[in-house]
Amino acid sequence: MTAIQDRDVLSTVVPIDSAEAIAAIIAPLPQHRQRTFALRVRRRWAELVAGLSVYPEPEVVAGRCLVLAAKAYAERADDLHTLDEQRLLEPDWFQQPSMVGYAAYTERFAAPGTGLAGVADRVEHLRDLGVTYLHLMPLLQPRPAPNDGGYAVANYRTVRPDLGTTKDLAELSKVLRHNGISLCLDIVLNHVAREHAWATAARAGNQHYRDYFYVYDDRSEPDALEATLPEVFPDFAPGNFTFDDDLQAWVWTTFNDYQWDLNWANPNVFCEMADVILYLGNLGVEVLRLDAIAFTWKRKGTNSQNQPEVHALTQALRSIARIAAPAVTFKAEAIVGPDDLVYYLGRGVHHGKVSDLAYHNGLMVQIWSMLASRDVTLAAHALSRIPATPTSTAWITYLRCHDDIGWAIDDRDAGAVQLNGFEHRNFLSNFYAGDFAGSFAEGLVFQYNPETGDKRISGTAASLAGVGAAQASGDARRLDDAIGRVLIGHAVILGWGGLPVIWSGDEIGTLNDPAWDEVADHAGDNRWANRPALDWSVVDSLSSDPSTPAARVFTGMQSLLRARASLPHLHSAVAAQPLPTSAPGVLGVLRRHPIGPMVGLYNMTEHERYVPGWWLREQGLDPASVVDHVSGAAPELTEYEDLRLSAYQPLWLTAQ
Ligand code: GLC
Repeated sequence: MTAIQDRDVLSTVVPIDSAEAIAAIIAPLPQHRQRTFALRVRRRWAELVAGLSVYPEPEVVAGRCLVLAAKAYAERADDLHTLDEQRLLEPDWFQQPSMVGYAAYTERFAAPGTGLAGVADRVEHLRDLGVTYLHLMPLLQPRPAPNDGGYAVANYRTVRPDLGTTKDLAELSKVLRHNGISLCLDIVLNHVAREHAWATAARAGNQHYRDYFYVYDDRSEPDALEATLPEVFPDFAPGNFTFDDDLQAWVWTTFNDYQWDLNWANPNVFCEMADVILYLGNLGVEVLRLDAIAFTWKRKGTNSQNQPEVHALTQALRSIARIAAPAVTFKAEAIVGPDDLVYYLGRGVHHGKVSDLAYHNGLMVQIWSMLASRDVTLAAHALSRIPATPTSTAWITYLRCHDDIGWAIDDRDAGAVQLNGFEHRNFLSNFYAGDFAGSFAEGLVFQYNPETGDKRISGTAASLAGVGAAQASGDARRLDDAIGRVLIGHAVILGWGGLPVIWSGDEIGTLNDPAWDEVADHAGDNRWANRPALDWSVVDSLSSDPSTPAARVFTGMQSLLRARASLPHLHSAVAAQPLPTSAPGVLGVLRRHPIGPMVGLYNMTEHERYVPGWWLREQGLDPASVVDHVSGAAPELTEYEDLRLSAYQPLWLTAQ
């Protein structure tokens, strides 16, 4: 194809003025680059326009965005074009069993004062765990504190000055990539800081920018909307609207009063954010975490979450990214109920066309529920009810993150297994707050809402699993159990398939940060208890004493991660099928890979358990000839060929 023909390809689909602008932008590029761009546009155009059909003139918006895409494509560095080709040749790169994620705050991971450059110095620790994906928590320029841990962005094109510059960020992404690690960053889509240039212009009376937000002159509309809107932060930011003195009006603020919700019904907002995505992609960011994506479309009379337009617009954003920078991968952060969750990976017309990755918060919640109740009935039921995901996508599996845990347990799921949803959620809150007789946990109550009874929980994996309480008791058996819970929790997320993300510090059993409220701007937000700085003195002494809880957790995780990487069965394209096992408190997870079945067995209790040999045979494996990849040996069998599992023992079984 000649350059002229490339232009023809563009002009047959793209509105003429945009096609001309695009042609002019890509004209100086080598011919093969021009052709590639034209082919990608042809490949994605229908998908893009369909996604933009929420706007009155989808083709016009699409054309505008393609001009932005062409600019980003033309500016994209050669090594990133190569990465694009690599990813297109291996589109399942993030689905591989060798993928391991890690999440941390730059300043709580790198040595004090070293910023982004300091992260590169600590790559060895990540390599020791086999990490291939690093999520650095918000690091773009936020408003001055308070800023919700950086989730109130004032400038998407600048890095926090205390951490470095955009040049440092691009450099870090390169260093990480050379170490086999993909960089993931947040892109906050739902809101900007009150100090962001768009909000500043709106406050100065600029109508163009006022239209970027939901602004109401009086309370009539906000009151009508509030009737069906839940509160995200009922404690420290009640209500969903804030009166702003500069605006002399009410503005929609789902989260904190300084986080202004963007009006995605305005195509200008869409184009601005598409451009930010392209900008970050050109810095070498490979995975974009679409923060609070569930909230981006509003509809009166609903809770304004999970609206169908959210998925249409994600499809459009992804098409644009796939044209300019196909290496860029989307990860949906939608911490929503089980019925809404799978849509973020694509259902129906959006199948395989929205986010590549999405947080499996249902699995996370069920792990803690199993550990508290020593019962897997609810988990097996609820998890098996989640529809299959497109085979080109993957769940982000995680045991906990930087946020609190909200008990996303569906009333119908609970009812189906003779539980009361409200009571069970309440039980979990009390249990993990340590307010339940016999509880091992040391979590903190976050955002208690007396109106709904909703009580979320903050805490690190080790504190929630009882490592702190066990250590304080001096009881060796209790400590074994608590460490067992940290490891079995991780074994479930590692054995599920998907991309597991380990939260910084959990790999060494870090407890809640006792000084979390000493930073003035953090006091009142106890999610900071589960965001401690990584204790490098502990990391550095891991090999000197293997009997410490930190070393036991670390080596346990390391061996699980190594076993995982060697198991093709754990490719994300293969579905995980949760099953009760007839042994109380033991969860089964069957994965039917073409090379043969894999069965994960997880004893979620502190008691010895036996899974009958017949049960395993029913899943297609002969107990006498299986190997357990966790231990690397045959599992322990009774004389009846039942499988014996000790307290909190995981087994990953395949035919020998
Ligand atoms: C996401 C973040 C959370 C933040 C919220 C608002 O849920 O994970 O930390 O408070 O978005 O941006």
